Formats: sequence, structure tokens, C-alpha cells
Amino acid sequence: MKRYIISHRNGIDGLLLHIDAPKPELRSSTDIRINIKYLSLNARDLQIVNNDYPAPHDVPQDCVPVSDGCGIVEAVGKDVTLFKIGDRVAPVFPQGHHYEEDLALRSLKRGLGGAIDGVAAEYFVCDEQEAVNIPSNFELIEGSTLPVAYTTAWSSLYSHHPSLQSGQTVLCLGTGGVSLSAAQIALISGARVILTSSSQSKLDKVTELLKPLVPNGAPANVIQTIDYSKVDAWDVEARRLNGGKGVDFVIEIAGRATLARSIRSTRQGGLVAISGYMGDYKPIPDDLIQEDLAKVILYSAANVRGVFVCNREDFKTAASALEIGGVKPIIDKVFKFEDMKEAYRYMEAGRHVGKVCIEL
Ligand SMILES: NC(=O)c1ccc[n+]([C@@H]2O[C@H](COP(=O)([O-])OP(=O)(O)OC[C@H]3O[C@@H](n4cnc5c(N)ncnc54)[C@H](OP(=O)(O)O)[C@@H]3O)[C@@H](O)[C@H]2O)c1
Repeated sequence: MKRYIISHRNGIDGLLLHIDAPKPELRSSTDIRINIKYLSLNARDLQIVNNDYPAPHDVPQDCVPVSDGCGIVEAVGKDVTLFKIGDRVAPVFPQGHHYEEDLALRSLKRGLGGAIDGVAAEYFVCDEQEAVNIPSNFELIEGSTLPVAYTTAWSSLYSHHPSLQSGQTVLCLGTGGVSLSAAQIALISGARVILTSSSQSKLDKVTELLKPLVPNGAPANVIQTIDYSKVDAWDVEARRLNGGKGVDFVIEIAGRATLARSIRSTRQGGLVAISGYMGDYKPIPDDLIQEDLAKVILYSAANVRGVFVCNREDFKTAASALEIGGVKPIIDKVFKFEDMKEAYRYMEAGRHVGKVCIEL
């Protein structure tokens, strides 16, 4: 079968395509084998090959890359009850038994495409408990966007306290996979969204793509935007757009570069859900690094917590909500498997809106 390995971590050229790798066998009677059809990239995939992924675990030599994939069940062990041949499934990002566990840093030690072999291969074997059905109204390619971005967005809004209520406001930072997934989940939940981006043209494009999720007759300000390259005090602007009040949730993906402003954007008792640190890859002004975060949190009285994807039960709930909500994942561009390095380079250039996918 075809598969990639990460032969070294000095950049994208470390990705090496094998065309005669052995097809993996079922390891136990509850295993399934998935014929992987599509992948989608996450910021993490790039960080791993560039050796700047900050999570404290080793990446094994010759690890198969990529966390997110989707395909068709092609073989089942004799005790499998959850799936049948032909089912459309996506493997869960942290493999291992974690049905209702509150995922934490340790979960990353079972993460696909970094701690253990990922899905950039024609076939992938896992226990039946380690995959989920994709929504019936998703194309297969759309299923590949589920395991990391949507689960992190779901976890940020629903897996912890407080959880999202209709009528609330969600501030989504940037126009990448996690933030746009959160914006879609917020809209089908009857919430307002405020999106930020470094680019007005990205904001215009995203607003158009999100509009189908806004109910007919809803006011124009259900989706609002801020170009943070032009509006430095975007926390003040977020509060202004939210009628002078702090927002209820922030999807915080940029880390030290944005955290203080994210907290200041939030109402007392609201939630700043931290999942990422994209700002770390650019110079961060000294005044932001030196900000007294303890006082920022104290004075805002907001909740601030870290989020690690979500467990399998929440993944299933999220998939169900996306199905009922008629959500279509925002896919920017699709590359051929043989051109996977180009897909990584495209992502590295940061011009994408939503997901970058790969077809096997
Ligand atoms: N904890 C978890 O379980 C988990 C799960 C998934 C992802 N993550 C992390 O979450 C982050 C986002 O991942 P992703 O896959 O969604 O990335 P992505 O699709 O590559 O998107 C990254 C986005 O970050 C935005 N950005 C960069 N610097 C920013 C800044 N200073 N302020 C606001 N936005 C900024 C950019 O938006 P614009 O170009 O529009 O400005 C870009 O679209 C990464 O750090 C990733 O490692 C964590």
C-alpha cells in the first residue's frame, strides 16, 4: 500500500512516500481495517514535521504522519458489533479507550500522526471503539475534517462548564480549522459569532460561507468580523460589537499573542477556551509577553481553561449535531496524495480558510 513516513523532522521534505508498504493485518477480533480515502491537515501536522510541536512527547522515528482521515471499513474482526464492511468512518484522534474521559495532556501520547502512526496510508487498523461514523449527509472528504478541528471546537463550547446557550456570543480567533468549526457549531446552536482575521478578504469569504447556517429573518449582526491587522484593540471592538458587553466564549487559538485581549473580551463568568498557540510562530511584542495575566483574569472574572480535542462520546454527539444542523465543512483546497508535501507547503503559507484536504 501507499503511505508516508516522517523520515526526519527538519521540515516538510522529511515526508517520504512509500509505495510498497505492507497492508496492516487486524490485530484482534474487535479490530476494523479502514481503507482511507481522504485526509485533512491540522496545524499540528505541520508543527510535527517542522519540529516545533510543543507537546511534551516523543515522535517515533518513521512515524506515519497526519491525524485526520476518513474512509470505508474494508475488513472487520469476528467480534466487531459497531461497524460493518462499507461503513464510512473516521478514526478518533487519541487512540485507546477513552469513551467519556475528560481528555488531558496525557491523551496526546496516544495521538495519531505524532505519538503513534497516523492515517497518511491507504489502510489503517484500529479497535472498533476507536472510530466513529461520519454524518450521513457528509461527503467522504468532509468526514476527514472531523477528528481534530470539530472535536476541539465542540469541546470548547460544550464539553465543559459553562457550556454554550442559544442567544450567546462566541468570538472565534482566526479563520483556521478550529475557529471556523466553532463558528459553525455556534451558528447551528442559535448563537452569534464574531470572527477575527489578519485579512479582510478572508473575513468576506468566510462570512459568505457561513451565511447558509444563519436562519432566515435573523438580524444582520449574527455574523460580525474584525480585521485584527487593522484594529489593534480588537478586544474593545469585540465588546462594542457585542452591544457593550463581554462575549460569552472565546475560541483562543493564538496563545500569548492574544490571550490577554481574549480574556478582556469576555464577560464575567464567560469561558476562554484555549486550544492553540499560533501566535508563537511570529514575534510577539514585549508588552504582551510582560502582561500580568493573573490580574487580567482576576479583573475580568472570566473562566480560562485548556481544551484537548474531545472524547469519543462527545465526538459522536458533535457528529450528530453537525448532521442535524446541516453543516458543510469549509474546505479550502484538495491535493492528491502524491502531492502531500505541496499541501503542507500551502498550509504553511497560511493563505487557507478552513481545511486543506488530501485525496488518496
Ligand atoms: N488543544 C487541542 O486539542 C488542539 C486541537 C486542534 C488544534 N490545536 C491548536 O490550535 C491552533 C489552530 O489550529 P488549526 O488546525 O485550526 O490551525 P489552522 O487551520 O492552520 O489555522 C490557523 C489560524 O490561526 C490564525 N492566527 C494565527 N495567528 C493569529 C493571531 N495572532 N491572532 C489570531 N489568529 C491567528 C490564522 O487566521 P488568519 O489567517 O485568518 O488571521 C489561521 O487561520 C494551533 O495552535 C493548533 O496546534 C489544538
